[in-house]
Amino acid sequence: MIEIAPSVLAADLADLAGALAVAEAGGADWVHVDVMDGHFVPNLTFGPPVVAALARRTRLPLDVHLMVEYPERLLDEYLAAGSARVAVHYEAARHLDRLLTAVRDRGVRAGVALNPATPVETLVDVLHLCDFVLLMSVNPGFAGQAFLPHVLDKARRLSASIDARKLATTIEIDGGVSAANAAACARAGVRTLVAGSSVYAADDPVAALRRLREAALEGLR
Ligand code: DX5
Ligand code: ZN
Repeated sequence: MIEIAPSVLAADLADLAGALAVAEAGGADWVHVDVMDGHFVPNLTFGPPVVAALARRTRLPLDVHLMVEYPERLLDEYLAAGSARVAVHYEAARHLDRLLTAVRDRGVRAGVALNPATPVETLVDVLHLCDFVLLMSVNPGFAGQAFLPHVLDKARRLSASIDARKLATTIEIDGGVSAANAAACARAGVRTLVAGSSVYAADDPVAALRRLREAALEGLR
């Protein structure tokens, strides 16, 4: 199983409805929404009203990636806005156990995002609470950066530990993902691919979305 989550951060921000239409036409499984607060990362993006507006405009579930300090202060608003799943950054969450439990108690799938420099082994005591782990394959903050290949090794290590513990946690990768590295991601155990620029900067974004899934599935054959 492979899931594709186009990141609307890389789309024309004056035409978010158009970005959602591309996601639907290209058969996406999720719409990835990058929330940035100007503190955890040097960029500022979507507030809860924007996320709520996106949720109203699409039948696809929203995959909300919170790149914010103090995620516990903002969580309720983003949950109420219609997130189908939420990832908080390990580097920003001081009470991760409590936070993940609170997300799940609301019937929303809970995830932890890791910066490229944060080892996956740090999740050993919280993995059982993670519906998914989001591995950043760029330093968070901007679309359009180059994929960091060492993150594939993190995916392999995490995947082995999930399998050994017979957990249902899935692995998502985010940053610089394209048809050129999708197969390698899938082979490393990644099941959800986030893609911004490789979809929305393509001449034909719908075709690019479909190609990305094909390329990832090739890695599983
Ligand atoms: C980066 C974001 C990514 C970004 C992906 O901080 O978390 O989701 O939008 O964009 P690309 O695929 O262009 O790296
Ligand atoms: Zn993201």
